[in-house]
Amino acid sequence: MALNDHEDDAHGMSRRDFTILLGGACLTGMAEPQVMARLTGSGRKRLSALAYQNPSAEGTWVLKKIEGTVPRELNGTLYRIAPGQKENHGVMLNHLFDGDAFLSGYSFNSGKVTLRAKYVDTPERLEELQAGRMLYSEFGTLAPRTGEEKQAKSKNQPSVNVMYWDNMLLGLSEGGHPTSIDPVDLNYRARHDFYGTLPGNVPFTAHPKFDPLTGEGFGFGVQQGMGTALKVYRMELNGKLSELYSLPQKGYFMVHDMLLSKEHIIFVIPPVRFDLPTLFKGQSSPADALRYFEKEPTRYLILKRDGKSKPVTIEQPPSMVFHHGNAFEKDGKIVIDTLLSPDNTGLTALHSWSKNRMPMVTSTRLTRFVLDPGKAVVSSRSEISEHQEFPRFDTRRTGLEARYLYTLESSIKDDPFAMNALVRHDFAFNKQKKIMAPGDRMLGEPVFIPHHGRDEEDRGWLVMQGYDASKNENFIEILDAGTLDFEARIWTGQHFPLGFHGNFSKDMIIE
Ligand SMILES: [Fe+2]
Repeated sequence: MALNDHEDDAHGMSRRDFTILLGGACLTGMAEPQVMARLTGSGRKRLSALAYQNPSAEGTWVLKKIEGTVPRELNGTLYRIAPGQKENHGVMLNHLFDGDAFLSGYSFNSGKVTLRAKYVDTPERLEELQAGRMLYSEFGTLAPRTGEEKQAKSKNQPSVNVMYWDNMLLGLSEGGHPTSIDPVDLNYRARHDFYGTLPGNVPFTAHPKFDPLTGEGFGFGVQQGMGTALKVYRMELNGKLSELYSLPQKGYFMVHDMLLSKEHIIFVIPPVRFDLPTLFKGQSSPADALRYFEKEPTRYLILKRDGKSKPVTIEQPPSMVFHHGNAFEKDGKIVIDTLLSPDNTGLTALHSWSKNRMPMVTSTRLTRFVLDPGKAVVSSRSEISEHQEFPRFDTRRTGLEARYLYTLESSIKDDPFAMNALVRHDFAFNKQKKIMAPGDRMLGEPVFIPHHGRDEEDRGWLVMQGYDASKNENFIEILDAGTLDFEARIWTGQHFPLGFHGNFSKDMIIE
């Protein structure tokens, strides 16, 4: 790829100057050696790997390179968080989920856009920086051990999701307790246990759901240690958790997301568990010890929100699942939208992140189920479309029937994680509208932000972080959610890992 676009010319750098600069960046850990190789022409990584490379810088910028017009009515901050390293003190990290959390805050204030971005400086990160080496194992990479060290401790990386709740910014990881972060300067504050109500051996989900009518939340965690159990909580308005269910489980399993309807909490639990003897030997990372049991069912677990009723379980053919759309009640049944994979090829590919060529991945299927909790059966199942991920919707409709669902789609055959299209699913007319990203661009999860004072479901914006490989630069794109018309693209002058999830807070402004 030639280093000849106008941005680089504008800085007045020759190829040699730029190579020297990148060499310095590699030494300080901000740029991967592979990125340098790509930009200097000796190699080419796949688009999704470039979109998750180590960030170019930490800092605060007022963004002025804007195409279109940033709506003056859009005010607040979009927080995005990501696994922010693919190399740690000389150790290449194997899994997409590995690496210290990198947080970005895009603040909109009457048309002005300010970006602040930095690593979350957890105690574990600071300890490694002080030591100058990798001390903690990651989800898919064991830390090198020296001398008498037997088993490296693992990090609690708040790199999956971030949300503003209970007057604090919480970085979320299903591997530990939430991490409280200052919403303005983005500095680490503390681990958060919901004022003593989350047990130490229960990590908290990265995907809690919130009732738009009451404001209360619902979350869960899989209790570790003796007596594995699925713990389900209501997140009270006073910031504390109330335990609704503690359901003993067979083995230590993985469940990533949940659904909330007006009266129910629904889990889709794939046949995936950690092999504990393998894990406890200390020779394998958690990702190495994760097993997919292809002869076991996927369980659809239905719980009443009051915490008092007997759980209902419906067994279905095995499938892998990470994310869901919305859920709602209709005529005594529950309608859910979920993204199923018929096998574990996606899990395997996530663990092959550091490789140049990804293994084949079976496409996900956006699937609508109608569940009948009274009879404990699936009333109907219909596949809507393939290659979809990162479903989002207007969260003012959580638990209620919603007309629209927004997803990302990948159409690059040998790079299944390079999401290059936005799709709006219109359930009222069973139609989809698709917006393709041009060229070497990859898109991040579309976040719906409502117009202030407008209740209609399509009155809002879709805001997405994106990455352009030809410029090696990230951008934020704003679309009209109702028409999908382009409103603005704001270039950052930096490259940041795209990450998985994030949320908007209308109450916070970074200046
Ligand atoms: Fe997720």
